[in-house]
Amino acid sequence: MNKKTRSQKQHTPIVIGNWKMNPDTIGNAKKLFLEVRKHVNRKSLKTYVAVAAPTPYLSELERLSPSQRIKLVAQDMFHEKKGAYTGEASLSMLKSVGADAVLVGHSERRALGDTEEDVKNNLAVALTGNVTAILCVGEKQRDSHGNYFTEVEKQLRSALAGTPKSRLKRLIIAYEPVWAIGTGDTATPEDVQEMKLFIIKILADLFGRTAANTVRIIYGGSVNAKNADELMRVGQVDGFLPGGASLKAPEFISIIKTVESYAT
Ligand code: PGA
Repeated sequence: MNKKTRSQKQHTPIVIGNWKMNPDTIGNAKKLFLEVRKHVNRKSLKTYVAVAAPTPYLSELERLSPSQRIKLVAQDMFHEKKGAYTGEASLSMLKSVGADAVLVGHSERRALGDTEEDVKNNLAVALTGNVTAILCVGEKQRDSHGNYFTEVEKQLRSALAGTPKSRLKRLIIAYEPVWAIGTGDTATPEDVQEMKLFIIKILADLFGRTAANTVRIIYGGSVNAKNADELMRVGQVDGFLPGGASLKAPEFISIIKTVESYAT
């Protein structure tokens, strides 16, 4: 396949399927995982391919991917190490069942009550814990005054306050406008590119331009096999966090193929 280019500094492309609270059983989860694995094992891909699977499925899926060609991502974590926190899972627990990375501050977690403080605490622990942290940010709605920039800036500054520069290599920022998640209403590639540049500007302000450029930026919000190419080419992102589309193996594989065509 012809290699396509993005004008920005090239990072390893990324596709992380966010399964959310799906599929309904471990049997169906294994089936889906194996379908994706069939494709991923056939090729030597440069893309970081991962699934953010429900926590109870992680260890079974780890056994299905001994070579780690498909990485596993935890959908959430709790910043304490251990103790009386019924229902929570610590970072070391998640790592011990195969998590290579963890989502932090997904908007669905925020909607269920996670505060900016929770997001900041989780991010700080994830970034010191030898995993990749995927910080999710995004505005609830778009208005004509550009208030969405302020909203995203607040989320970034709050989550990243006090982060040492040296930790940024393990950080991925997922720009996920809430209004685009699960709605079929994708942000335009131009808007995605504009927000990506804005995020880099905030990072540069916080950490300096060189460190800012080490952070990978991906997009999520109704990504599918049809819109992925334009979002990569015009949006200039390093990859995607598809939700719904990651539950259909052929569609997820098609997104992986598109993203891989931008690998250098
Ligand atoms: P969606 O979800 O692709 O179904 O919009 C993306 C996400 O929530 O990460």
